[in-house]
Amino acid sequence: MAQTTPNATRGGFSTSFGILAATLGSAVGLGNIWKVPYLTGANGGAGFLLIYLLATLLIGLPVMMAEISLGRSVRANPIKVLRTLSPGRQPWWLVGLSGMLAAFLIMSFYSEVVAWVFAYILKAVRGTIMSSDPAVTQADFAQLVADPLQSLLWQWLVLAAVASVLIMGVAQGIEAITKRLMPLLFILLLILGAVGLTLDGAQQAMQFLFWPDFSKITATVVLTAMGLAFFKLSIGMGTMMTYGSYFTANQNIPQTAVRVMLADLGVSMLAGVAIFPAVFTFGFAPSAGPSLVFITLPAVFSQIPFGHGLMVVFFVLTAVAAMGAMLSLMEVPTVILQERFQMRRSRAVLLATLLVALPGAGSALSHSILAHIHVAGFNLFDLPDFVSSNVLLPTGGIIIALFTGWVWGRDKLQAELSNHGQLRNAKLTTVVFVLLRYVTPLLIALVMLRGLRVF
Ligand code: PHE
Repeated sequence: MAQTTPNATRGGFSTSFGILAATLGSAVGLGNIWKVPYLTGANGGAGFLLIYLLATLLIGLPVMMAEISLGRSVRANPIKVLRTLSPGRQPWWLVGLSGMLAAFLIMSFYSEVVAWVFAYILKAVRGTIMSSDPAVTQADFAQLVADPLQSLLWQWLVLAAVASVLIMGVAQGIEAITKRLMPLLFILLLILGAVGLTLDGAQQAMQFLFWPDFSKITATVVLTAMGLAFFKLSIGMGTMMTYGSYFTANQNIPQTAVRVMLADLGVSMLAGVAIFPAVFTFGFAPSAGPSLVFITLPAVFSQIPFGHGLMVVFFVLTAVAAMGAMLSLMEVPTVILQERFQMRRSRAVLLATLLVALPGAGSALSHSILAHIHVAGFNLFDLPDFVSSNVLLPTGGIIIALFTGWVWGRDKLQAELSNHGQLRNAKLTTVVFVLLRYVTPLLIALVMLRGLRVF
């Protein structure tokens, strides 16, 4: 779903629908199906979701609009965009470097979760995981992640697949495929949600998802919710800036950002409604963590006609959705290596992939031979996740908001957001500007410092 041919004629996307699909392709991925449900379960449900929603509106949306605007105004990679727009030698471009680091860290655990999805496609085909018994599905998952060789090999297969798509430049083909397949994933989630609502635990699940209990909200929970908002919208690391550089001159940026946000939220909510009734019906723990979707969905599929075939389809579609997100993640280091260090595209992709494989191996082996290694209380799977979502992306967000609000300035932002006055959205863009200049950076900084216990 991702548009990932940076060196094809700058200006990349041609139709308005194509732009929407590509941007959505970056946003929608494992985040919706795997991360939102598991974090919601682990952080007490509706209260967490509410804060996530607030963070999306007050922080996510304005930062996303700023990134796309900056990217489109220069049409280059994030480092060059900020170098071009910065006065003198101010080092705002460093956000491009931190974006590159974030891409490596996110890919290192993301590719492992996709590795589990690949493994589950095979398990689903074999029909070995059709059970609603938590003990059975949990054991099955535990066995997979405890196997160092399987964990590594599946991950390498994922990385090889991503690298070949990037090198062969068949991203356009992938995009065409994803565009057609994503509605199918949506329909499948609708079916699963409908099935979920017929289960005994449906009412309890709805209460858990939509009736906030603020007693569970701590500073860490707020930070996690904000980090999720960044991760979900692919912002704070230059992905949206890169995509913005492919936007056409007459694309309505605010409208596109709002649509992407709404569709993205919709998919996440559907995934929640598909998963949580089964959690309460069959006695899974909502706080199971990263394994949640892998242990509960087989239970849902075991309850429906054609469940076996549908489970195969589901994991294949999830892998496809994840592919769009991974292509956009890898695009950031690839374009930077290519344009900044004059590397050939294939070299840049290979180097970026190697740089992912290294920390990636840590994530892959974090539930087996490296399980004993902990850094600051995190294992090697949770560590890159925590550092990227809760430190690097928010820091990137602060820098982008400050740069837009104080350096680039109101006129240029409004010119870009209104297509140089063609769109009559001055009120809206004023709100966006005020948020970026005053509210967003302060809010991010406060949540981050409190969440990291700096004060
Ligand atoms: N937004 C993607 C998801 O939810 C992950 C992602 C993060 C993609 C950052 C690009 C950049 O799966």
